[in-house]
Formats: sequence, structure tokens, C-alpha cells
Amino acid sequence: MLEIRDLHVRFLNRDREAVAGVTLQIDDGEIVGLVGESGSGKTVTAMSIAGLLPRKQCVFSGDIRLNGKDLLHARRSELRKLHGKEIGVVFQEPMSAMDPLMRVGEQVGEVLRIHTDLDRAERRRRALRAMEDAELQNPEELYDKYPHELSGGMLQRAMIAAATVIEPSLLLLDEPTTALDVTIQAQILELLKKLNAEKGISMLFISHNLNVVRKLCGRVAVMQRGRLVETGETDEVFYHPKHPYTRQLIEAIPSRDRRPEDGAE
Ligand SMILES: Nc1ncnc2c1ncn2[C@@H]1O[C@H](COP(=O)(O)OP(=O)(O)O)[C@@H](O)[C@H]1O
Ligand SMILES: [Mg+2]
Repeated sequence: MLEIRDLHVRFLNRDREAVAGVTLQIDDGEIVGLVGESGSGKTVTAMSIAGLLPRKQCVFSGDIRLNGKDLLHARRSELRKLHGKEIGVVFQEPMSAMDPLMRVGEQVGEVLRIHTDLDRAERRRRALRAMEDAELQNPEELYDKYPHELSGGMLQRAMIAAATVIEPSLLLLDEPTTALDVTIQAQILELLKKLNAEKGISMLFISHNLNVVRKLCGRVAVMQRGRLVETGETDEVFYHPKHPYTRQLIEAIPSRDRRPEDGAE
């Protein structure tokens, strides 16, 4: 469903390419992890898929297709339509991704206002349902609150509701749990698993933490300095890493977290 072929992105004020020839495929219903240290090009890859590259500040080439439709070279207006309906995006900092002056429920339903002609009542109904699916307690009450009245975990659930309310086929998650403590992080991972299983949404899950990726993703791609150095089944990559950089990432995981999951083997 998503096919990235030989993606290159270079910012005009940089010598080195931020993304230097990435080829990656995500199949229907699949959750693929993208890991690598800070600065390796993960976010720029996600921005390229999401149509958020600052086009005047960079040169880019390659091919990104979602169900056959060109995402990289299409006109802005076309991209916006496609992105609103077929791709949901969740970033690391829910607080900065939200409008502080707009009620949470309205933000969840915002994409429906832009991309559909549903009336206000129906948008509200769907926003409430998406909030419920994102396992927010008392959505009716939360609907009218402002972002600063919610905890970080609740905000991230609200962002997930906003990204899934229109039922996209692909969800891009850029370090969605990095700012959260481990308990909340685990809950969000469970929520993503559920959304994937129940709604069949494909996901690209970006993290600098291979251990988090292992809990969620069937397949993982390891990125270093703009390139994918290794791609494979997550368990295979984790237990039989081929590239020295992958080994380094695994060694960075505390050993108590390196054991196989209960019942996994
Ligand atoms: N708007 C920008 N202008 C110039 N360079 C950028 C810009 N955005 C990202 N970069 C550079 O691109 C590289 C990849 O960054 P990024 O994709 O954000 O890494 P990651 O998400 O893996 O931490 C880095 O060297 C970063 O400094
Ligand atoms: Mg990043």
C-alpha cells in the first residue's frame, strides 16, 4: 500500500543528504518500525510521506506511492486532499501539535470539517466515537476541554483520535511515546495494536528506541545517516542483527529489557 523508492532529500543549507536513498514498503495492515539515532533522517522521511517537506528549502527525488497514488511530486492541493483522507499523523509532542485555544473535541473533528461535508452534529458524533476508540474516559466531558487541561497521555490519545477520526489507511507515528513515562507508553502501544487489529490501519512507527519498536512492529528498518542499513522481521533483526550499527542499538537497551517477551519463544 505504501511504497517508498529511492527517496533522497537534501536541505539546501546542508552538504549531506538528510535522506540518502531510502526504499521501504508497508503492506496493508502492517506495522513497520523505523529506528535510528537522532539526526538519522527518520522525521524527514515521515515528512516526505506526509507532504510536509518545506519544498523551497530542499531538493528531493525518488518515488512515494500510497495505493498507487504519487505522494512526493503531486500538486499541493491534491496532496492536501490525499493526506487528509488517507494519512493520519501523530508527532512526539502532543502539546505543540495542538492549538491551545481550540477545544479538544473540535480539534479531533477538525479534519472532518476540512475534508468532508458532514454537519456539525455528525462531526461531533464521530469525534466522540474516535475519542472513545482511543480509550479516553468520559469523551463527552473531555470534548469541551482545552489542551492544557489534559495530561500528556490523554493528549496523545486525543492526537491519535484526531489522526484516526477520518479512518485513514495509514498512520504515521513519529516518536509518539517518547515524551511519556513508561506506564503510559505501554498503554499507548497497546492502543495502537488494538487500532491496527480492529481497523486494519497500517502504521509507520518511528522511534529511536528499538525496544519500543519490538513490542509493536512486525518488521523494522534501521536507519543511519540517511540510509537504511538493515530491514527485516523485528525478531530476526533483534536476535540476529547483521549490521554493526543495529548491534550497537541493541546493546544500548538495558539487559533486563532484552529478554524475549513472555511466551514469545
Ligand atoms: N528544516 C531543516 N533544515 C535543514 N536541515 C534539516 C531540517 N530538518 C532536518 N534537517 C537535518 O536532516 C537530518 C535528519 O533529521 P531528522 O529527520 O529530523 O532526524 P531524526 O528524526 O532521525 O532525528 C539532520 O541532519 C537534520 O539536522
Ligand atoms: Mg525525529
